[in-house]
Amino acid sequence: MSTTIDSLLHENRHFPPSAEFSANAIAKPEIYDEARADRLAFWATQARELHWHTPFTEVLDWSNAPFARWFGDGEINVAYNCLDRHVIAGHGDRVALHFEGEPGDTRSITYAELTSEVKKAANMLASLGVKQGDRVAIYMPVIPETVVAMLACARLGAIHSVIFGGFSAESLRSRIVDAGATVVITADGGYRKGSVFALKPAVDEAVAGIETVEHVVVVKRGGNEVVWNERDIWWHDAIAPMNDDHVAQGFESENPLFILYTSGTTGAPKGILHTSGGYLTQAAFTHRNVFDLHPETDVYWCTADVGWITGHSYVAYGPLANGATQVLYEGTPDFPEPGRWWDIIEKYKVSIFYTAPTAIRSFMKMGREIPQARDLSSLRVLGSVGEPINPEAWMWYREVIGGNTCPIVDTWWQTETGAIMIAAMPGITNTKPGSAQVPIPGITIDVVTEEGTHVGPEAGGLLVVSEPWPSMLRGIWGDPDRYKDTYWDKFGDKYFAGDGAHLDADGDVWLLGRVDDVMNVSGHRLSTMEIESALVSNHHVAEAAVIGASDETTGQAVVAFVILKRRAKEELGHADAIKELRAHVAKEIGAIARPRDIYLVEELPKTRSGKIMRRLLRDIAEGREIGDTSTLTDINVVTQIDNQVP
Ligand code: WTA
Repeated sequence: MSTTIDSLLHENRHFPPSAEFSANAIAKPEIYDEARADRLAFWATQARELHWHTPFTEVLDWSNAPFARWFGDGEINVAYNCLDRHVIAGHGDRVALHFEGEPGDTRSITYAELTSEVKKAANMLASLGVKQGDRVAIYMPVIPETVVAMLACARLGAIHSVIFGGFSAESLRSRIVDAGATVVITADGGYRKGSVFALKPAVDEAVAGIETVEHVVVVKRGGNEVVWNERDIWWHDAIAPMNDDHVAQGFESENPLFILYTSGTTGAPKGILHTSGGYLTQAAFTHRNVFDLHPETDVYWCTADVGWITGHSYVAYGPLANGATQVLYEGTPDFPEPGRWWDIIEKYKVSIFYTAPTAIRSFMKMGREIPQARDLSSLRVLGSVGEPINPEAWMWYREVIGGNTCPIVDTWWQTETGAIMIAAMPGITNTKPGSAQVPIPGITIDVVTEEGTHVGPEAGGLLVVSEPWPSMLRGIWGDPDRYKDTYWDKFGDKYFAGDGAHLDADGDVWLLGRVDDVMNVSGHRLSTMEIESALVSNHHVAEAAVIGASDETTGQAVVAFVILKRRAKEELGHADAIKELRAHVAKEIGAIARPRDIYLVEELPKTRSGKIMRRLLRDIAEGREIGDTSTLTDINVVTQIDNQVP
């Protein structure tokens, strides 16, 4: 860790915004002073940008810490804020979504049309019995109906749980059960890399035998054959008879909005719970200020899948609350050819572009000729999220995509934080390649030692959030103790983020990656334990250890060390065993968790108390000199494994 940070800190390039950009920017330097002077008044002002059915008088109630209440006596309807409000203000004809399907089909949907669609969908869900507090699971490709489904739940005060379409039937099933969902919304299939990938069969498998699921609503997208069960209904059939009158009712600010499952340090994913008023306040505020959104003229595009938190806050809620026009793209970056993303930017004249370092690095590999063959001059702000962006990728992003003029905002946040926490402000900050820089106005963070004391400048430690914030998670679904243990046990009154960080001499933050057993593959969170338990659930496996090894493109990659049972060693060839285990993990969790490398070993390095020393496995996988082995039971184990890894 220290060598990386040493080399990063030799980075002394700075890029201030142009005078013209600063003059027209939404956020002006005074915003920091305003937030510092009275943090709660600042957030109350931001919250009042939204429409409240009943205005709030109370800002924060932290008396039941760590369970926060923001704007607790106010009433709000999240969907009304994202839709009706813009139509009433006269922006009904503004395009909300420019949908671009992977096969090239397109639909532009105005705010008036989207409002009407969501009202119909809300009536449809209500007719199926969905009401305030009910859970609805959404397992979809990136199509407009996904956003419509989320907003329809929000409109009814129901709680959605979106499950990324790349997750397996098994992962889907455990999430449906944990949330107690009564309705599942899915599609027959979606498009990826030129063909249809089926979603419906995974839902069929996932809901088999689950009594709580009353209806499965299926959007027709892929046109693939589907098996039809008694509780299935087509979305288009169910929606056709509905009218588009639906009066949005106000719900209390703390009414749950969604659950989103994410990986933690133990095997079972955690259902991160977000509520309404505070979440929408910070999602909208950050979207407007960090991306400098001018809704009348900008075209915004965030490439995240709606199944991740980035898709919730910066595809669904933030942009729509701000009345933005955005691109929604279904497919992969490089289909039908490597320039697809840049074609989309040129076609829709995208001005604000938000993506992940993994994507930038894979485009770097393909060469700058591809983006340079397109007109990207409409771009004016670039964003990055999901993992640390290395200075080389940052510079390439700036030069090749941003034409040396666009400010880059590197945004640090988490599923748990709900919205951006650390980021440059594009019209204010002197940006530094590789650093996420400073907390946004109204947020206080710190970097502390294991004991919880501030590390001071030019030192590394653990990232904490020192005071509650509006879009913070309100808990883990059904498990308040796990919520307290995971985030609040370590430092008491400070939120422990699980990330290492370094403060430089200017006080800017450099993120150093996770300090726990969570890894970050292509900006997606995966748990070491979850993959290990998937591996040992295979009948050939005796023991397994999984680590995240650094990877040039994906940030980290899954590497597994597996001990096979004796029988399996005799019956299975080496290559077959590896093939089977990779497929097994994909089936249990999803293709994103499939290990890049699996090494079949005789023993795993362990301490005397039997703990697997993953740190040593990481050294081996990354080709480093092996670190301190003094607590290891048997040094030969490490030497043997080391000889096996190329
Ligand atoms: C990492 C994604 C460095 C971090 C929004 C965090 C980052 C985890 C950045 C959350 C960034 C996210 N720089 N690291 N700009 N953004 N991370 O919940 O380790 O999918 O804890 O939320 O991603 O991942 P999650």
